[in-house]
Amino acid sequence: MIRLRIPAALARQSPVAWIGGPVMLFRLARPALFALDAERAHRLTIAALAAAPVLRPARTGPLAVEVAGLRFPNPVGLAAGFDKDARAPDGALGLGFGFVEVGSITPQPQPGNPRPRLFRLPEDRAVINRMGFNNGGAAAAVERLKARGGRPGIVGVNIGANKDSADRIFDYASMTRAMAPLASYLAVNISSPNTPGLRALQDQGPLRDLLGAVLDARGEKCGSGGPPIFLKVAPDLAPADIDSIARVAIEMKLGALIVSNTTITRPPLRSRHAGEAGGLSGAPLRELALERLRDFRKATGGALPLVGVGGIASAEDAWQRIRAGASLVQLYSALVFEGPGLVRRIVRGLGVLMRRDGFASVAEAVGSE
Ligand code: FNR
Repeated sequence: MIRLRIPAALARQSPVAWIGGPVMLFRLARPALFALDAERAHRLTIAALAAAPVLRPARTGPLAVEVAGLRFPNPVGLAAGFDKDARAPDGALGLGFGFVEVGSITPQPQPGNPRPRLFRLPEDRAVINRMGFNNGGAAAAVERLKARGGRPGIVGVNIGANKDSADRIFDYASMTRAMAPLASYLAVNISSPNTPGLRALQDQGPLRDLLGAVLDARGEKCGSGGPPIFLKVAPDLAPADIDSIARVAIEMKLGALIVSNTTITRPPLRSRHAGEAGGLSGAPLRELALERLRDFRKATGGALPLVGVGGIASAEDAWQRIRAGASLVQLYSALVFEGPGLVRRIVRGLGVLMRRDGFASVAEAVGSE
């Protein structure tokens, strides 16, 4: 149970302060949140988002983009891992995101790795996590997603396999059956570095088997319809892996590739937590994730939409990713340091950059670098 100690500055605010919503709240609560251990701060943030009055999701405008048959009001999404249990997708949409990805969710609940397992690296604007797919399991998430009913907004569900599963492909198929009726899209996550052996599913043979099982499971549940399937890959891939993943993804008619998850590599870091094991995200991932995106753009020749993620912290970063081939972008770590106001700043800034460079739409700019 979380005990919420409201910072004195916040307690003094009149209800008028709530008009600024989560942005104002974050500004006031930031010092208190940063004084807390990273995981507690994160749980409080989710609880606040889930409890706050739900704001209208982003409206469609000049930044709207169509990917895999879905119309995204803007191309800026919340990456998986922030709302693992689908507790506050509507709260997150209210921050201005064009879409939100909840998860990763596994069939059975599981506790994840021992704590501490989440580290802020403020000097590096980075995060290291080895959470290990801690989540409340499919049944609980299904109930929450059902309860949000037909609310507007694109909510993708990121699916994973249990650590101790004897048959991981079976896990992904059963997650597909559970989530397909409730998800705008399904993101098949085989790139978390914190579940031993998971990333081997990126190899050509297992990947084909896995995606075949997921597509069959979707067919059982939804016939010829159902949500598009996105595949989330690691940034730590060799050129041959990139080519084979691209080939299989096109052949299997996936909706998009999400490039990328966290990295197990360690560019030079300054923080005292630099030596922690786990996946690194945030600013030090930016160049690597951008390079991978370019690799996948080249390997797919534009035949498959790409979602750029990793180290995006500004409108310029997002725009660079779009110009490099991303139809959509996602972010997570930058929110930890910049707060929720970042979302609207990026969306606004993207509009400015699009006009500056003379593009009439995001689609026109994709891959134009
Ligand atoms: C993540 N990420 C992640 N990805 C995923 O597919 N499933 C997950 O459960 C998680 N969990 C998770 C937890 C934490 C604490 C972090 C920081 C990240 C990865 C995330 O979605 C994203 O791919 C990377 O973090 C890179 O983007 P940023 O954070 O640099 O914007």
